[in-house]
Amino acid sequence: MSDKDRLIEHEYDGIQEYDNPMPRWWVIAFWATIVFSVAYALNLGGIGTGPGRIAEYETDMAAWRAAYPQETPVLSAEALLAVAAEPTSVAAGQAVYEVNCVACHAADGGGGIGPNLTDAFWIHGGAITDLYVVITEGVLAKGMPPWGRTLAAEDVAAVTSYVWSLYGTTPAAPKDPEGDPVER
Ligand code: HEC
Repeated sequence: MSDKDRLIEHEYDGIQEYDNPMPRWWVIAFWATIVFSVAYALNLGGIGTGPGRIAEYETDMAAWRAAYPQETPVLSAEALLAVAAEPTSVAAGQAVYEVNCVACHAADGGGGIGPNLTDAFWIHGGAITDLYVVITEGVLAKGMPPWGRTLAAEDVAAVTSYVWSLYGTTPAAPKDPEGDPVER
């Protein structure tokens, strides 16, 4: 085919065009994506065949929840107090505290971004089980991370026992009391 054959008849302002079609395979792939996108939109949106994206999401989440239960493991107050009575656990908890908690609660528990952990005032309750639950689950909206997701279970129990041991100590720069007083 000479260049002349490929010229298209028309002419605009003296400019002529070549007939330069895309390769056949390309055109087929192009139409295939359009057909596929329609089928996909109907299926994904749940308008046609599939269960729809919300239902798909719920199914996936239910499977995930079943595979990874998120409930706080129940440790009784007795079990936690037994941990707190072990000096080695409290020392292990202090090591966990120094790595993970100092940034917000200060090295001596006096508080900063997070509340003072040495006084008798507690936002989420002052029982040892309350401390354990708030440390495990966190208070995401207020910036307290859920440590149950990142620390080993025994580290959470140990750091709980360390926080428990801070009660009544005198930090260098205590933050003002937050929450309600709890007698111990
Ligand atoms: C990024 C900052 C941050 C880090 C790190 C952090 N906390 Fe907190 N923590 C907070 C904030 C903020 C609150 C207050 C939550 C609220 O107001 O409900 C809090 C609350 C608490 C409470 C409850 C206090 C109360 O008055 O009820 C305990 C206990 C606690 N943190 C322990 C820990 C321990 C133990 C660690 C380390 C394993 C830790 N926190 C690490 C920010 C932090």
